[in-house]
Amino acid sequence: MQHRVVLSIDLSVLAANYTAVREIASPCAVMPVLKANAYGLGVARIAEALVAAGAPRIAVAEPYEALQLCHLGVPIQILSGILPDEIEEMVAHDVVLPIVSLESAQLISAAAVAQHRIATVHLKLDTGMGRAGILWCEAPELLRQIASLPGLNIEGLFTHFPLAYEQGSSFTHIQLTRFKSVVAAAASEGLCFQYLHAANSDAINNAPETCQHPFNLVRCGINLHGAFDAAGSLRVPLKPVLTLQTRLTQIRTLPAGMPIGYGHTFQTSSSMRVGTVCAGYADGLPLALSNRGSVLIHGRRVPIIGRISMDYLTVDLDSVPEASVGDQVILLGKDGEAEIRVQDWASIKGTHAYDIICSIGSRVKRVCV
Ligand SMILES: Cc1ncc(COP(=O)(O)O)c(C=O)c1O
Repeated sequence: MQHRVVLSIDLSVLAANYTAVREIASPCAVMPVLKANAYGLGVARIAEALVAAGAPRIAVAEPYEALQLCHLGVPIQILSGILPDEIEEMVAHDVVLPIVSLESAQLISAAAVAQHRIATVHLKLDTGMGRAGILWCEAPELLRQIASLPGLNIEGLFTHFPLAYEQGSSFTHIQLTRFKSVVAAAASEGLCFQYLHAANSDAINNAPETCQHPFNLVRCGINLHGAFDAAGSLRVPLKPVLTLQTRLTQIRTLPAGMPIGYGHTFQTSSSMRVGTVCAGYADGLPLALSNRGSVLIHGRRVPIIGRISMDYLTVDLDSVPEASVGDQVILLGKDGEAEIRVQDWASIKGTHAYDIICSIGSRVKRVCV
């Protein structure tokens, strides 16, 4: 039995987006960020496709995600933090770990020594994100202590930006200055790093200096899926990777004055051909699309009428007289010349593209094409 709502992920477009990001971010290498099951899209095939496209390493958020990718033959790296009881297994699997404090460095060092291994680590600097890491002003002294610990290969130093979507952001500039001052202090102690990285998709697009010397790596997530943070500008020529589609389940001609859906938020003003579509908020459609969004049927844009419910939504089919039950409905993606983008939903919901992609429902069948 086929799933009604299907999310197609075009792996060749994904690979093309990877190449486009690499060209713009050059000379930096590009590390895909595939945390949270590749933003909910399904990490296994996406990771394989990106490694085939040349990704030299992959970043995730937590140990479970790292273990899923260890077979790929490239370094797998945890970005933001590690719990004490997670360290032993991660060291045993050669996962690249973040150091966010002297304590975390001591625990990783002790686990590595106990296992007669060398743990590869990247030091995470908090230059103004305020979420995790070693404060930039405390870093020079801590780096000296961390560098003296046994069993550690201190391979990288990195930081993260909260405001990189702002073109010419003065705060991002301050963060860069803080980061570079730590790099210089470390160098004066003889500590150099193979990888220096800071840029996410926002920075790649809006702060080009984060892709230049001394940086040699960027961390890219949302852009690979063809989406971007509409709060900023887009420099990378991306193509949409995702198509979310379903089908029409019923078509009726309703009389004038007929209320539609929960809350009766829509009422037909004249006789109207109304289609019922098999997708609702359980599939990830924002409730905010009720009476405001649209879908594509036979290449035409058709307004959503009434409130979206858990499994269904209703549309005004007056402009598509040839539509019939079972026909394809494009919720996100292209149909002929018409297109609905992740950013369109994000703007109607008043959120960002990450929220939209990560909210696609668990019952939606993910298919890689
Ligand atoms: C530390 C870190 N780096 C990079 C990224 C990738 O961000 P983006 O999807 O905007 O490229 C994330 C994602 O939130 C992150 O937490």
